[in-house]
Amino acid sequence: MRVPVVIIGGGPAGSLLAHLLHRQGVESVVLEQRSREYVLSRIRAGVLEHGACELLREHGLGERMDREGFEHHGVSLAFAGRRFRVDFEALTGVGVRIYGQTEVQKDLYAALEADDIPLLDEVSDVSLGGLESERPWVGFNRAGQEQRLECDYIAGCDGFHGVSRLAIPEGVRQEHEREYPFGWLGVLSETPPVSHELIYANHPRGFALCSMRNEHLSRYYVQCTLDTTAEEWPDERFWEELKSRLPGGAAETLVTGPSIEKSIAPLRSFVSEPMSFGRLFLAGDAAHIVPPTGAKGLNLAISDVTYLSRALVERYRDGSDAGLEAYSDKALARVWKAVRFSWWMTNLMHRLPETGAFGQRVQDAELDYLSGSLAAQTAFAENYVGLPV
Ligand code: APR
Ligand code: PHB
Repeated sequence: MRVPVVIIGGGPAGSLLAHLLHRQGVESVVLEQRSREYVLSRIRAGVLEHGACELLREHGLGERMDREGFEHHGVSLAFAGRRFRVDFEALTGVGVRIYGQTEVQKDLYAALEADDIPLLDEVSDVSLGGLESERPWVGFNRAGQEQRLECDYIAGCDGFHGVSRLAIPEGVRQEHEREYPFGWLGVLSETPPVSHELIYANHPRGFALCSMRNEHLSRYYVQCTLDTTAEEWPDERFWEELKSRLPGGAAETLVTGPSIEKSIAPLRSFVSEPMSFGRLFLAGDAAHIVPPTGAKGLNLAISDVTYLSRALVERYRDGSDAGLEAYSDKALARVWKAVRFSWWMTNLMHRLPETGAFGQRVQDAELDYLSGSLAAQTAFAENYVGLPV
């Protein structure tokens, strides 16, 4: 069987790409290794950049996001017993939207189903080849049956642990990585959020973040060591730790309750270059990972597939390869800026004992500068609400 585009991975990158292509007359098949239920229940970050929201709206995916999501016009940063707000609206004219990735994924799967776009779930043993030929192929196993799809192009949207990136020969692939010596312990709880906007706190005990999903569902994180496990954090210990790191005002009003999810994620920055090889094009976490500080992961997946869908549509409509040839450079230019911002914000907001007293003083000075400079806040706001796509 031959299809124009085979998409490996049905996370946000893969399913959005299939949707964007279909809307513009390019057909694809999505291959996903997990079950539909598994993909739809994954809990991830929840901040959509202004441009990402516009894009989702433009492609018919904004209805529930606009109804159930929340527009945020700023965030608070806390440090050294102080707290200040960065006013996105005043500094950039736009804000961000709080709408969980889990919800975006539900909307995407609903759209694929409504349009009868084939999404084959629970596939295994995905392999790919012929990347430098005009007939690339993807092999896989589904329900015990070996299958093979021939195609014009392959989109590798299979996340950090996927197989697509590894199909780029080692001599061509360049990987850049930074691992941070700490993780985030996250808790989801059916309690009202402590603040109507996000609070990022840098406290001597470590970083803390107050986020939310809706008026009744809060998402909180604390910086933790890499050797700890979620089992070592009964709810009571988590709430106590969070409270100790929050600025005055927030700590006293924090409503605690049983957690409904608790997990630990290590922090990492990773970029694999180039993002294309022959007829294979990588998008999203398959090509890059950012630490969650600033919530850029999903937004980058959205900008990658926006570029890739435009390039593929140009190829099928006008017969031009120009967009596909430019894809990797174009995507990487934006990716590196988000990598830089996430790395910078991670270093600004976490406790980094390895940088010593000098590092701590520099961090204090930077937070103090940011709190008092509209120029610095504008740079922060511009990156947080999202650079142009
Ligand atoms: N074959 C088929 N599917 C695969 C394979 C494989 N070999 N390996 C991984 N997958 C699937 C995963 O099960 C997952 O559903 O690919 C999908 C990749 O999805 P994500 O990891 O969510 O990555 P992406 O779609 O790029 O979205 C980026 O989601 O992962 C978060 O933090 C990330 O917010 C960011 C956003
Ligand atoms: C979240 O709500 O999960 C979230 C918000 C902001 C971040 C990271 C995660 O920077």
